Amino acid sequence: MAHAKLLKDHRHFLDISSLTPEDAREIIETAKTLKKAAKKQNQSKGFVHPDAPLKNKALAMIFEKSSTRTRVSFEMAMHQLGGKSVVLQNHDMQLGRGESVSDTAQVLSGFVDAIMLRANSHADLLEMAECSSVPIINALTDFSHPCQIMADVLTFEEHKGNIAGKKIAWSGDGNNVAISWIHAAVLFDCELSLACPSDYSPIAQEIQWAQNNGAKVTLTEDPNAAVIYADCVITDTFVSMGDDDADQRLKDLSPYMVDGDLMDKADKEAIFMHCLPAHRGEEVSADVIDGPKSVIWDEAENRLHIQKAILMWCFGK
Ligand code: CP
Ligand code: NVA
Repeated sequence: MAHAKLLKDHRHFLDISSLTPEDAREIIETAKTLKKAAKKQNQSKGFVHPDAPLKNKALAMIFEKSSTRTRVSFEMAMHQLGGKSVVLQNHDMQLGRGESVSDTAQVLSGFVDAIMLRANSHADLLEMAECSSVPIINALTDFSHPCQIMADVLTFEEHKGNIAGKKIAWSGDGNNVAISWIHAAVLFDCELSLACPSDYSPIAQEIQWAQNNGAKVTLTEDPNAAVIYADCVITDTFVSMGDDDADQRLKDLSPYMVDGDLMDKADKEAIFMHCLPAHRGEEVSADVIDGPKSVIWDEAENRLHIQKAILMWCFGK
């Protein structure tokens, strides 16, 4: 997969690998500041930031796949920053009837100031970025999920301090969320140890890209080996949206479930994260995800705070 650089002269948020380390850090720090401001004022959720930094800005949100967290967090982020959002479900759009991505991008660029896209195909996201004249945000594709991992880094740092030099362990499917963690290992200088069955390994060239860029990213088939000394253990669903081989996946990936025994092999202060939605008894046991090491509710809430920071960055605020 090409590592897109900033296209044209505006700031697309396509992948963590497209950012500079300074951009990535700026987004995390902006999110921390905005979160602190919101908490300090003990705001109700419908508040608007007194400075309304995104006043007069409009965001279109296109969903080709289901969403709870991404949809609500972006919509509330735009509201709380004083902007406007429009939610577009693929099946309600002409896009869903075959109108081209490029025509859609050009038309929407005349209506809104940025477009958020949850797409089946990463190639469509990149095409939209090529053809739009406004910033494009990747809200999950078959390839990656960068907004999620920015929220994960924020969550990690709230609980464990600066992520640089810390060890993250992944057990399960080498999917879109894992790919964005591989990118994050480079940008945030953390160690990433992935445990995946060979048929479910993350795309080899992404691991190669990370290693070529100096990141300590390793791949094993043994979850017990991956989690040793880990400061954080992560997994994700074994059946992602678009996967049509659920039974086979659940069978092949079952040894990679994060349970209490696996957590006990990580650092004793390790935290557990999961982007959600979760499937208790499949990729994670209930005692782990609902237990004291789990930070999933902070992680979910942080989607809101990080979306604000991503939007501010895209708009150059
Ligand atoms: N984690 C995540 O992206 O959740 P949604 O699919 O609900 O948006
Ligand atoms: N890997 C999952 C993430 C959901 C937020 C999927 O793509 O369905």
